Amino acid sequence: MISERVIPQYMETMKTFEPRVWKGPRFAARNIARTTWVPSCDLDGVNFGHLVSHSAKPLFDDRELDAVVDECEERASTTGWSTSRHLNYPTTDVSLADLPRTLDWFRNDALPSVVYPFLTDSYGFVLPDPRHLRVVDAFVVKYNATNGQTRLEPHRDGSIVSFNIALNDLRDYEGGGTWFEGIQTAIRSPKGHVLAHASGLLHGGHPITSGVRYILVAFVILRSYPNFATRFYDHVRDR
Ligand SMILES: [Fe+2]
Repeated sequence: MISERVIPQYMETMKTFEPRVWKGPRFAARNIARTTWVPSCDLDGVNFGHLVSHSAKPLFDDRELDAVVDECEERASTTGWSTSRHLNYPTTDVSLADLPRTLDWFRNDALPSVVYPFLTDSYGFVLPDPRHLRVVDAFVVKYNATNGQTRLEPHRDGSIVSFNIALNDLRDYEGGGTWFEGIQTAIRSPKGHVLAHASGLLHGGHPITSGVRYILVAFVILRSYPNFATRFYDHVRDR
């Protein structure tokens, strides 16, 4: 269901996000601190720990995140926001494929030096080979309390792991956050933090009641491990 074997277009879309150079991490692994919420569970006897992982400090600085929002609004001012990129649970978004400066930063800096090390730290002990993590879709989502989408209903993503990067400050909006059924809680992520979770967990965009919230969302698969992907997804669905 969630591998390149089942969704062949992932073979193409992952190329869009393939780093030109695999830089080393921007932080020492011990500094990519994280907090987890969902208790351990078992997959074929392998204790794989936690399924939601939230950085304990910002992993990006304001300057690079402001540039993402600026480019996105610039693009949306001419072409508008998309509301139909995803069939069942569409967001109001712009694909990174349409944001050349953001895409260059994301694929060549953010992914290899921050996000992939963070995901490896968070999920490396359960994944057969975290070096095969590959983003297959990425987009900037805008929630707007007064004009547009304020929430996203609970759903599951079609990937192994999903993550979002908070692009603006918590003081810019009320409510919001990523809601998880398993913990009956919406996790509100401060600007610059990364929140990752197993894609098969039931989750949604908690409603905002004022202001505007921007997040960069991405879906990640584990290339070349279709059988593991299916088992993992089926397992976390029950969490
Ligand atoms: Fe989602």
